Amino acid sequence: MTSLAGKTALITGAGRGLGRQHGLTLAERGASVIVHDIAGDAAEETAGMIRKAGGEARVVGCDITDVAAIKETFGALGTVDIVVNNAGTHEARLIEAISAAEFKNMMDVHVKGAFFTVQTLLPDMKERRGGKIINTASAWGQCGWHTDSHYCGAKAAILGLTKAWAKEFAPWGIRVNAVSPGVVMTEMTRLNRTDEEIRDLAEKHIPIGRLGLPEDISNAVAYLASSEADFITGQVLPVNGGEFIVGI
Ligand SMILES: NC(=O)c1ccc[n+]([C@@H]2O[C@H](COP(=O)([O-])OP(=O)(O)OC[C@H]3O[C@@H](n4cnc5c(N)ncnc54)[C@H](O)[C@@H]3O)[C@@H](O)[C@H]2O)c1
Repeated sequence: MTSLAGKTALITGAGRGLGRQHGLTLAERGASVIVHDIAGDAAEETAGMIRKAGGEARVVGCDITDVAAIKETFGALGTVDIVVNNAGTHEARLIEAISAAEFKNMMDVHVKGAFFTVQTLLPDMKERRGGKIINTASAWGQCGWHTDSHYCGAKAAILGLTKAWAKEFAPWGIRVNAVSPGVVMTEMTRLNRTDEEIRDLAEKHIPIGRLGLPEDISNAVAYLASSEADFITGQVLPVNGGEFIVGI
Protein backbone atom coordinates (compact mmCIF):
# COMPACT_ATOMS: atom_id res chain seq x y z
CA MET A 1 0.00 0.00 0.00
CA THR A 2 1.33 3.45 -0.93
CA SER A 3 2.22 5.57 2.10
CA LEU A 4 1.07 9.15 2.48
CA ALA A 5 2.43 9.49 6.01
CA GLY A 6 3.29 13.05 6.95
CA LYS A 7 1.23 14.54 4.12
CA THR A 8 -1.76 16.83 4.44
CA ALA A 9 -4.54 16.38 1.90
CA LEU A 10 -7.39 18.78 1.11
CA ILE A 11 -10.37 17.08 -0.49
CA THR A 12 -13.14 19.32 -1.79
CA GLY A 13 -16.73 18.06 -1.74
CA ALA A 14 -15.83 15.34 0.77
CA GLY A 15 -19.16 15.27 2.60
CA ARG A 16 -20.33 12.21 0.71
CA GLY A 17 -19.67 10.01 -2.33
CA LEU A 18 -16.25 9.86 -3.88
CA GLY A 19 -14.85 12.69 -1.77
CA ARG A 20 -15.78 10.90 1.45
CA GLN A 21 -14.09 7.72 0.27
CA HIS A 22 -11.02 9.70 -0.86
CA GLY A 23 -10.80 11.01 2.71
CA LEU A 24 -11.03 7.54 4.21
CA THR A 25 -8.54 6.03 1.77
CA LEU A 26 -5.95 8.80 2.02
CA ALA A 27 -6.23 8.81 5.83
CA GLU A 28 -5.81 5.03 5.89
CA ARG A 29 -2.53 5.58 4.05
CA GLY A 30 -1.35 8.05 6.65
CA ALA A 31 -2.40 11.46 5.32
CA SER A 32 -3.93 14.06 7.59
CA VAL A 33 -7.15 14.97 5.79
CA ILE A 34 -8.88 18.33 5.47
CA VAL A 35 -12.50 17.51 4.71
CA HIS A 36 -14.19 20.28 2.75
CA ASP A 37 -17.84 20.58 1.76
CA ILE A 38 -20.59 23.17 1.47
CA ALA A 39 -22.66 20.80 3.62
CA GLY A 40 -21.13 21.17 7.09
CA ASP A 41 -22.93 18.26 8.78
CA ALA A 42 -21.94 15.88 6.00
CA ALA A 43 -18.31 17.01 6.21
CA GLU A 44 -18.34 16.49 10.00
CA GLU A 45 -19.73 13.01 9.43
CA THR A 46 -16.88 12.17 7.03
CA ALA A 47 -14.31 13.51 9.51
CA GLY A 48 -15.91 11.41 12.25
CA MET A 49 -15.62 8.30 10.08
CA ILE A 50 -11.95 9.03 9.40
CA ARG A 51 -11.20 9.53 13.09
CA LYS A 52 -13.14 6.40 14.04
CA ALA A 53 -10.94 4.45 11.64
CA GLY A 54 -7.86 5.85 13.41
CA GLY A 55 -7.08 8.67 10.99
CA GLU A 56 -6.63 12.41 11.38
CA ALA A 57 -9.20 14.85 9.99
CA ARG A 58 -10.36 18.44 10.26
CA VAL A 59 -13.28 20.16 8.57
CA VAL A 60 -13.58 23.34 6.53
CA GLY A 61 -16.62 24.63 4.73
CA CYS A 62 -17.25 27.03 1.88
CA ASP A 63 -19.18 27.32 -1.35
CA ILE A 64 -16.66 26.29 -4.01
CA THR A 65 -18.28 28.73 -6.48
CA ASP A 66 -17.46 31.72 -4.23
CA VAL A 67 -13.93 32.94 -4.96
CA ALA A 68 -13.75 35.21 -1.89
CA ALA A 69 -14.82 32.30 0.34
CA ILE A 70 -12.23 30.00 -1.26
CA LYS A 71 -9.49 32.56 -0.68
CA GLU A 72 -10.51 33.08 2.93
CA THR A 73 -11.04 29.40 3.78
CA PHE A 74 -8.23 27.69 1.88
CA GLY A 75 -5.84 30.60 2.28
CA ALA A 76 -5.82 29.96 6.04
CA LEU A 77 -5.06 26.23 5.86
CA GLY A 78 -1.27 26.32 6.08
CA THR A 79 0.62 23.49 4.42
CA VAL A 80 -1.34 21.38 1.95
CA ASP A 81 0.66 18.69 0.13
CA ILE A 82 -2.17 17.04 -1.79
CA VAL A 83 -5.17 18.81 -3.33
CA VAL A 84 -8.04 16.70 -4.64
CA ASN A 85 -10.47 18.84 -6.62
CA ASN A 86 -13.54 16.64 -6.29
CA ALA A 87 -16.58 18.83 -5.51
CA GLY A 88 -19.15 18.43 -8.23
CA THR A 89 -22.73 18.49 -9.31
CA HIS A 90 -24.65 16.76 -12.07
CA GLU A 91 -28.01 17.03 -13.78
CA ALA A 92 -29.26 14.81 -16.60
CA ARG A 93 -30.67 17.39 -19.02
CA LEU A 94 -31.02 17.98 -22.72
CA ILE A 95 -29.68 21.30 -23.99
CA GLU A 96 -33.14 22.88 -24.33
CA ALA A 97 -33.78 22.38 -20.62
CA ILE A 98 -30.58 23.98 -19.34
CA SER A 99 -31.01 27.56 -18.13
CA ALA A 100 -28.25 30.17 -18.13
CA ALA A 101 -28.11 29.96 -14.34
CA GLU A 102 -27.74 26.15 -14.40
CA PHE A 103 -25.05 26.36 -17.07
CA LYS A 104 -23.15 28.91 -15.01
CA ASN A 105 -23.44 26.87 -11.82
CA MET A 106 -22.15 23.75 -13.58
CA MET A 107 -19.09 25.63 -14.84
CA ASP A 108 -18.59 27.41 -11.52
CA VAL A 109 -18.68 24.29 -9.33
CA HIS A 110 -16.32 22.26 -11.49
CA VAL A 111 -14.07 24.70 -13.33
CA LYS A 112 -14.05 27.94 -11.35
CA GLY A 113 -13.95 26.00 -8.07
CA ALA A 114 -10.92 23.94 -9.05
CA PHE A 115 -9.20 26.94 -10.66
CA PHE A 116 -9.39 29.23 -7.65
CA THR A 117 -8.70 26.46 -5.15
CA VAL A 118 -5.42 25.83 -6.91
CA GLN A 119 -4.68 29.54 -7.35
CA THR A 120 -5.10 29.97 -3.59
CA LEU A 121 -2.90 27.03 -2.54
CA LEU A 122 -0.23 27.41 -5.20
CA PRO A 123 2.04 30.06 -3.59
CA ASP A 124 2.73 27.79 -0.60
CA MET A 125 3.30 24.75 -2.83
CA LYS A 126 5.71 26.76 -4.97
CA GLU A 127 7.58 27.93 -1.90
CA ARG A 128 7.92 24.35 -0.66
CA ARG A 129 8.73 23.19 -4.20
CA GLY A 130 6.35 20.26 -4.35
CA GLY A 131 2.84 18.97 -4.11
CA LYS A 132 0.26 16.89 -5.90
CA ILE A 133 -2.88 18.20 -7.52
CA ILE A 134 -5.47 15.64 -8.55
CA ASN A 135 -8.44 16.87 -10.55
CA THR A 136 -11.66 14.99 -11.14
CA ALA A 137 -12.51 14.62 -14.81
CA SER A 138 -15.14 12.23 -16.17
CA ALA A 139 -15.48 9.70 -18.96
CA TRP A 140 -18.24 11.95 -20.27
CA GLY A 141 -15.87 14.89 -20.49
CA GLN A 142 -13.56 12.74 -22.62
CA CYS A 143 -16.11 10.89 -24.74
CA GLY A 144 -19.26 13.03 -24.53
CA TRP A 145 -22.75 11.83 -23.64
CA HIS A 146 -26.15 12.31 -25.25
CA THR A 147 -27.39 14.41 -22.32
CA ASP A 148 -25.67 16.72 -19.84
CA SER A 149 -23.65 18.69 -22.36
CA HIS A 150 -23.01 21.39 -19.73
CA TYR A 151 -21.52 18.71 -17.45
CA CYS A 152 -19.48 17.22 -20.33
CA GLY A 153 -18.19 20.69 -21.22
CA ALA A 154 -17.19 21.45 -17.63
CA LYS A 155 -15.38 18.12 -17.33
CA ALA A 156 -13.62 18.67 -20.66
CA ALA A 157 -12.33 21.96 -19.26
CA ILE A 158 -10.82 20.02 -16.36
CA LEU A 159 -8.67 18.12 -18.89
CA GLY A 160 -7.31 21.42 -20.19
CA LEU A 161 -6.57 22.74 -16.71
CA THR A 162 -4.79 19.50 -15.82
CA LYS A 163 -2.49 19.63 -18.83
CA ALA A 164 -1.77 23.35 -18.64
CA TRP A 165 -1.07 23.28 -14.90
CA ALA A 166 1.21 20.26 -15.29
CA LYS A 167 3.42 22.31 -17.63
CA GLU A 168 3.14 25.57 -15.72
CA PHE A 169 3.92 24.09 -12.28
CA ALA A 170 6.51 21.44 -13.20
CA PRO A 171 9.49 23.75 -12.54
CA TRP A 172 8.42 23.80 -8.87
CA GLY A 173 8.08 20.00 -8.69
CA ILE A 174 4.29 20.18 -8.49
CA ARG A 175 2.59 17.26 -10.26
CA VAL A 176 -0.89 17.66 -11.72
CA ASN A 177 -3.02 14.76 -12.91
CA ALA A 178 -6.68 13.82 -13.18
CA VAL A 179 -8.75 10.75 -12.50
CA SER A 180 -11.54 10.16 -14.96
CA PRO A 181 -14.25 7.95 -13.44
CA GLY A 182 -16.85 6.08 -15.43
CA VAL A 183 -20.14 5.41 -13.69
CA VAL A 184 -19.55 4.97 -9.96
CA MET A 185 -22.12 4.04 -7.33
CA THR A 186 -22.74 7.26 -5.42
CA GLU A 187 -25.83 9.29 -4.60
CA MET A 188 -25.09 11.42 -7.68
CA THR A 189 -25.41 8.31 -9.89
CA ARG A 190 -28.43 6.87 -8.11
CA LEU A 191 -30.40 10.10 -8.42
CA ASN A 192 -30.56 9.66 -12.16
CA ARG A 193 -31.10 5.92 -12.60
CA THR A 194 -33.36 3.06 -11.49
CA ASP A 195 -31.85 -0.16 -10.09
CA GLU A 196 -32.85 -1.93 -13.29
CA GLU A 197 -31.06 0.66 -15.45
CA ILE A 198 -27.94 0.32 -13.30
CA ARG A 199 -27.94 -3.49 -13.64
CA ASP A 200 -28.53 -3.22 -17.37
CA LEU A 201 -25.68 -0.74 -17.78
CA ALA A 202 -23.26 -2.95 -15.87
CA GLU A 203 -24.15 -6.15 -17.70
CA LYS A 204 -24.34 -4.76 -21.23
CA HIS A 205 -21.82 -1.93 -21.35
CA ILE A 206 -19.06 -2.38 -18.78
CA PRO A 207 -16.59 -5.12 -19.77
CA ILE A 208 -15.57 -5.76 -16.16
CA GLY A 209 -19.28 -6.39 -15.45
CA ARG A 210 -19.97 -3.97 -12.63
CA LEU A 211 -20.26 -0.29 -11.90
CA GLY A 212 -17.34 1.42 -10.22
CA LEU A 213 -17.13 1.62 -6.45
CA PRO A 214 -15.85 4.77 -4.73
CA GLU A 215 -12.83 2.73 -3.59
CA ASP A 216 -11.86 2.12 -7.23
CA ILE A 217 -11.48 5.85 -7.78
CA SER A 218 -9.91 6.54 -4.37
CA ASN A 219 -7.21 3.94 -4.96
CA ALA A 220 -6.28 5.75 -8.18
CA VAL A 221 -6.25 9.09 -6.35
CA ALA A 222 -4.03 7.63 -3.62
CA TYR A 223 -1.61 6.32 -6.22
CA LEU A 224 -1.39 9.68 -8.04
CA ALA A 225 -0.90 11.40 -4.67
CA SER A 226 1.98 9.12 -3.73
CA SER A 227 5.69 9.31 -4.51
CA GLU A 228 5.22 6.22 -6.69
CA ALA A 229 3.63 8.55 -9.26
CA ASP A 230 6.39 11.17 -9.16
CA PHE A 231 7.20 10.82 -12.87
CA ILE A 232 3.57 11.18 -13.92
CA THR A 233 2.20 14.64 -14.64
CA GLY A 234 -0.37 16.10 -17.03
CA GLN A 235 -2.09 12.72 -17.39
CA VAL A 236 -5.70 11.63 -17.19
CA LEU A 237 -6.24 8.22 -15.61
CA PRO A 238 -9.52 6.62 -16.72
CA VAL A 239 -11.08 4.33 -14.09
CA ASN A 240 -14.17 2.81 -15.67
CA GLY A 241 -14.05 -0.99 -15.91
CA GLY A 242 -13.33 -0.73 -19.63
CA GLU A 243 -16.61 1.05 -20.45
CA PHE A 244 -14.77 3.90 -22.14
CA ILE A 245 -11.49 3.03 -23.80
CA VAL A 246 -10.14 6.27 -25.19
CA GLY A 247 -8.23 5.85 -28.46
CA ILE A 248 -4.49 6.36 -28.69
N1 LIG B 1 -20.34 9.28 -9.43
C1 LIG B 1 -19.94 9.14 -10.68
O1 LIG B 1 -20.35 8.22 -11.39
C2 LIG B 1 -18.94 10.11 -11.26
C3 LIG B 1 -18.42 9.85 -12.54
C4 LIG B 1 -17.49 10.73 -13.09
C5 LIG B 1 -17.08 11.84 -12.38
N2 LIG B 1 -17.61 12.06 -11.14
C6 LIG B 1 -17.15 13.27 -10.44
O2 LIG B 1 -16.65 12.89 -9.16
C7 LIG B 1 -16.87 13.96 -8.23
C8 LIG B 1 -17.63 13.43 -7.04
O3 LIG B 1 -18.84 12.85 -7.49
P1 LIG B 1 -19.86 12.12 -6.49
O4 LIG B 1 -20.55 11.09 -7.28
O5 LIG B 1 -19.18 11.77 -5.23
O6 LIG B 1 -20.90 13.33 -6.24
P2 LIG B 1 -21.82 13.65 -4.99
O7 LIG B 1 -22.93 14.50 -5.51
O8 LIG B 1 -22.18 12.42 -4.26
O9 LIG B 1 -20.85 14.54 -4.07
C9 LIG B 1 -20.45 15.81 -4.48
C10 LIG B 1 -20.07 16.63 -3.24
O10 LIG B 1 -19.70 17.94 -3.70
C11 LIG B 1 -20.29 18.88 -2.82
N3 LIG B 1 -20.56 20.14 -3.51
C12 LIG B 1 -21.43 20.34 -4.55
N4 LIG B 1 -21.49 21.64 -4.85
C13 LIG B 1 -20.65 22.29 -4.00
C14 LIG B 1 -20.30 23.66 -3.81
N5 LIG B 1 -20.85 24.63 -4.54
N6 LIG B 1 -19.40 23.95 -2.86
C15 LIG B 1 -18.85 22.98 -2.08
N7 LIG B 1 -19.16 21.67 -2.20
C16 LIG B 1 -20.06 21.33 -3.14
C17 LIG B 1 -21.61 18.24 -2.38
O11 LIG B 1 -22.12 18.82 -1.18
C18 LIG B 1 -21.24 16.79 -2.26
O12 LIG B 1 -20.83 16.44 -0.96
C19 LIG B 1 -17.62 15.04 -9.01
O13 LIG B 1 -16.71 16.00 -9.50
C20 LIG B 1 -18.25 14.27 -10.15
O14 LIG B 1 -18.55 15.08 -11.25
C21 LIG B 1 -18.51 11.24 -10.57
